[in-house]
Amino acid sequence: MKRLRAPWVWLLLLPAGVLAFSSPQDVKISPLEARSQPKPAVFSHWLHQSQQCFNCHPAIFAQAVEGFTHAQMTAGQFCGACHNGAVTKAISSMRCEACHAAR
Ligand code: HEC
Ligand code: HEC
Ligand code: HEC
Repeated sequence: MKRLRAPWVWLLLLPAGVLAFSSPQDVKISPLEARSQPKPAVFSHWLHQSQQCFNCHPAIFAQAVEGFTHAQMTAGQFCGACHNGAVTKAISSMRCEACHAAR
């Protein structure tokens, strides 16, 4: 029965999993201006598990869901800090639906 004495200790071996509980799965980013197309962009924490929280918070995203523009991203802000063809895929190489699909 010794093995079962403290099953919670296994949680200590899964820090990434525990942290993941504190980040919402999908976050809809409110458009700056109302529009019919494309759908509001959705950010997936799940797709970004390879990144550390502090890679994005608070420098790139201050955890306040606010709209921004492609012009700002092309200038290297927000998603464009990484999706620039250097750190990872450039936005211009991705399908609109990769980010703007309704989920
Ligand atoms: C890497 C993710 C990503 C891709 C790919 C992407 N967008 Fe966006 N887009 C965003 C985010 C984030 C915003 C800000 C939130 C919002 O307005 O939905 C945005 C905003 C916009 C806006 C409003 C702001 C502005 O700059 O005019 C339009 C229009 C837009 N996208 C169209 C498109 C079209 C068309 C495509 C495909 C050619 C596309 N987007 C591809 C992430 C993306
Ligand atoms: C690749 C970038 C990135 C990483 C890494 C990341 N986040 Fe986020 N996070 C975002 C974006 C984008 C948003 C939505 C826009 C905003 O809130 O400014 C967001 C929003 C949030 C929110 C607010 C959600 C809401 O509905 O207001 C919390 C809380 C959060 N993230 C926690 C975390 C935690 C905890 C981690 C690490 C496990 C993490 N994030 C890692 C980009 C990231
Ligand atoms: C800190 C760097 C970073 C930031 C900021 C970032 N991403 Fe990513 N993103 C990545 C990396 C790296 C990948 C590739 C998957 C991986 O390695 O985990 C990725 C993958 C993706 C994918 C899946 C790939 C595909 O082709 O479908 C989508 C969609 C995506 N990101 C959207 C966004 C959106 C929308 C934002 C802004 C709200 C954003 N990302 C901000 C680093 C980032």
